[in-house]
This record gives sequence, structure tokens and C-alpha cells, in this order.
Amino acid sequence: MNWGKPNPRIAAHEVDAMFIDRWSPRSFLDKELTDEQIASLFEAARWSPSCFNDQPWHFRYARSDTDRVLFSEPLTEKNRLWAMRAPLLIYLLARLHFAGSSKPNRHNSFDAGAAWMSLALQARRLGLYAHAMAGFDVKKAHEVLNVPEDEYTVMAAIAVGYRGRASLLTEELAAMESPNCRKTYSEVVGEGVVVPKG
Ligand SMILES: Cc1cc2nc3c(=O)[nH]c(=O)nc-3n(C[C@H](O)[C@H](O)[C@H](O)COP(=O)(O)O)c2cc1C
Repeated sequence: MNWGKPNPRIAAHEVDAMFIDRWSPRSFLDKELTDEQIASLFEAARWSPSCFNDQPWHFRYARSDTDRVLFSEPLTEKNRLWAMRAPLLIYLLARLHFAGSSKPNRHNSFDAGAAWMSLALQARRLGLYAHAMAGFDVKKAHEVLNVPEDEYTVMAAIAVGYRGRASLLTEELAAMESPNCRKTYSEVVGEGVVVPKG
């Protein structure tokens, strides 16, 4: 793939290319997804692991023009600008308590995150890209989705579609439209306990 700039994504160790290949573009083609593609994304997410196999995630999606306008309302203006073009907009909810119980599920966000990543990797398998967003008004998202705040938290919005040309974006966003880098391996991994400095 030609990014137009030097590719900053060089793996430090042997790893399946799918992990490097996934990234979050903002330019999407105005091209609909098939029922099978949509089902395949959520099927991947459905098989994610979770604490006590509680599966606290729930996905609501919009693909019609009417629904996408509705789903884009809670987004920040900056996100709405590009995410509106994506043919599929999703909200990922996480149940606050274990199913059928009043016990809080401390790992609901961890589990919902695993489900999001499965969806994002499956998107690449289908030739698509998924871009998660935290930039939305959570209260408004609850209202739009008609989801009670004491049962679920709206964890993230997700745009999915085929990647479009950077020139479809504003100049500011177009300048950011390439895969980014990561901290070094040793910054995020260590063996044994943390040794106090000094
Ligand atoms: C939970 C979450 C929230 C994010 N929120 C936004 C957002 O509101 N707007 C945006 O443009 N990108 C958002 N991103 C995308 C991140 O900026 C992006 O994942 C990060 O820079 C790493 O780049 P990559 O996904 O291309 O590898 C979000 C990603 C995650 C996982």
C-alpha cells in the first residue's frame, strides 16, 4: 500500500500482518455494505471472550440515510463531518451489571473493547475499515438510542466502510489520513515487578 509518506508501521517482532494492517481512516466511500458483510462484522464480535461469559456488549447499527442522520446527532461536529459518509454507523453499548443480577460488572468495558477489536479485524478481512469514536455526547446517545443509563453505558461509536481518497476530507483531516505509529515495545512491556528508580 502506498501511503504517500514513509510507512511508520514497522513491526518490532514477528506478528500476523492483520494487526499492523488495521488502522482508522476517516475517508469512506459512499458505497453500501451487504447484509452478509454487516452480519459478519457482528458475528466476529459475538465470539469475543468476556468475564463469566457474560457478553455485556450490545451493538445498535444504522445504515439507512434516516438512521445514519439520527445516529450522527450525538457525534461531535468534527466526527460527524467525516463519519456521516460511512455506510454503517454503530453504537457499542456495555451492560453495567451482570445479566439478571444487580452486581456491577467491573470488566464491561474490557469485554466491550475485545468485541470492538474483533469487529475491527473482521472489517479488514472483508476489505473494510472500522473507526471507533469517543467523541459524542453520551447523554444524547442514550436519548437517541432509547437506552436507559442505569442499564447500559454507551461505550463508543464506530464508523465502518470502504476506504475513500483523502481528498474527500477537509484539508486538516486529509493531513491526518495515514496510519500512525506506536510506542516502542519496551515502553509497554516489562518482565517481572517494577523496580523502583534511584
Ligand atoms: C475508544 C476510542 C475512541 C476514539 N475516539 C475517536 C474520535 O472521537 N475521533 C476520531 O477521529 N478518532 C477516534 N479514535 C481513533 C484513535 O485516534 C485511533 O484508534 C488511534 O489514533 C490509533 O490509530 P489507528 O486506529 O489508526 O491505529 C478513537 C479510538 C478508540 C479506540
